[in-house]
Amino acid sequence: MSEQILIIDFGSQYTQLIARRVRELNVYCEIHPYNNLPHSVENLKGVILSGSPCSVRESDAPNIALDAYRGHVPVLGICYGAQLLVHQNGGEVVPSTIREYGRARLQKIDQHPELLKEMTIGNQVWMSHGDTISTLPEHFINIASTEDVANAAFKIDEEDTYGIQFHPEVTHTDDGKVLLRNFVVHICGCAQDWTPDIFVESTVANLKETIGNDKVVLGLSGGVDSSVAAMLIHQAIGKNLYCIFVDNGLLRKNEFEEVLHSYKDMGLNVKGVDAKNEFYKALEGLSDPEEKRKAIGKTFIEIFDIEAHQIKDVKWLAQGTIYPDVIESVSVKGPSATIKSHHNVGGLPEKMNLKVVEPLNTLFKDEVRKVGHTLEIPGDILNRHPFPGPGLGIRIIGDVTAQKVRILQDVDHIFIKGLKDRGLYDEVWQALAVLLPIQSVGVMGDERTYENVVALRAVTSVDGMTADWSKLPYEFLADISNKIINNVKEVNRIVYDISSKPPATIEWE
Ligand code: XMP
Repeated sequence: MSEQILIIDFGSQYTQLIARRVRELNVYCEIHPYNNLPHSVENLKGVILSGSPCSVRESDAPNIALDAYRGHVPVLGICYGAQLLVHQNGGEVVPSTIREYGRARLQKIDQHPELLKEMTIGNQVWMSHGDTISTLPEHFINIASTEDVANAAFKIDEEDTYGIQFHPEVTHTDDGKVLLRNFVVHICGCAQDWTPDIFVESTVANLKETIGNDKVVLGLSGGVDSSVAAMLIHQAIGKNLYCIFVDNGLLRKNEFEEVLHSYKDMGLNVKGVDAKNEFYKALEGLSDPEEKRKAIGKTFIEIFDIEAHQIKDVKWLAQGTIYPDVIESVSVKGPSATIKSHHNVGGLPEKMNLKVVEPLNTLFKDEVRKVGHTLEIPGDILNRHPFPGPGLGIRIIGDVTAQKVRILQDVDHIFIKGLKDRGLYDEVWQALAVLLPIQSVGVMGDERTYENVVALRAVTSVDGMTADWSKLPYEFLADISNKIINNVKEVNRIVYDISSKPPATIEWE
């Protein structure tokens, strides 16, 4: 078991970022909510207490006894975490009189304690709190301050416990990475040996042991997560992994054939299932986005179930679930409000009565890509833009028909190929075309046309949670617009979506 850092989550919006920064140091860490902590953590090297939107002064504020950690392993409290340490030990936390939000500069740094080594006076730190530490408890030593925040950082005397009131995990803190490295590497003594290669090696060994000679079924989607999950399990159990790739009729142009071919090249035991008509039938007459999602999800489960039952004695269902989904489902606040029902195959394990194996459920998306790279999965699968489970079904506004799918596939193909040809594909996070339920008047030669309008959308993003529209070059957009209108006769007008997320979302439905 790799060395690990435990991150105790008190509900801060930045908790996932702390985990990402620790992982970037090649150190394994896990986030657990303060109200559901594991009884014991193997190979625990240190603990980080996250921030929180709450105030330690509230009677029902999140609180935990830290005796199990303090004095045994190093502890770092960030923001609320630091204030909690102070509050629990007789110091004082009071509402800030000035706004302690945003940029501040460190004026005093005591470089004696390892935590602040190599941090520079005058460098920027990011503050975000409504409370502030006014009095430190006995044995707490002030080690840094800014103009407005006297107790910006402290250390507990003769103990490897620290608190900081700024956020080292956000990029606005200049030396944030230095501080986290000091804590994780120098204070906790982590060896920084958690690399994609090690992950593959240990996961494959674990999978071998857990699965043994059982058979496993997995639904491939053409996307990164299911492909990487498949390759890992394939390395562990070879032909006992049965993959199913369903053509739901809502994939991109030629995608089914091309991706199926790649999978076979990768040595996977994969069966392609053409279920286009079943999906079109299930979608008939539906135009509400959530109803379409549900119909697509339900049809997928039905088809997958039939196919899986043809595999004799299958015992396991493998899924490409990744860490953000896991964190989300156990978060302090509970699963966040469903804006769109993204987990469209959520009901699969219950329905199938199989044991579930999820080899990627501790990884972030970028880590999944790195593991995929180690597994030598082809770049055209690893680097492809995210594509929603319901596919083009939620990019055709209103009801879905085979003919509309064909039109949108043709448009999408020209757009995506254009991005690739111009070297722009990897610069945008996701690009898509939406078929609108609007006809507009046009003129072609001497003839009046009355045809469909298509919206193009390209966004930059890190994780899809927020996004900005891509500033694609005008002449590129003009060229693509011409190409689409000249080649797809059912379309006579193209618009480009210039809204960011929030308040818009990436998909239109
Ligand atoms: P939104 O539209 O919410 O999308 O900004 C964020 C990301 O999620 C994808 N998305 C989906 N993925 N099933 C999925 O598997 C869905 O129903 C779904 N809806 C949106 C979207 O493509 C983007 O990457």
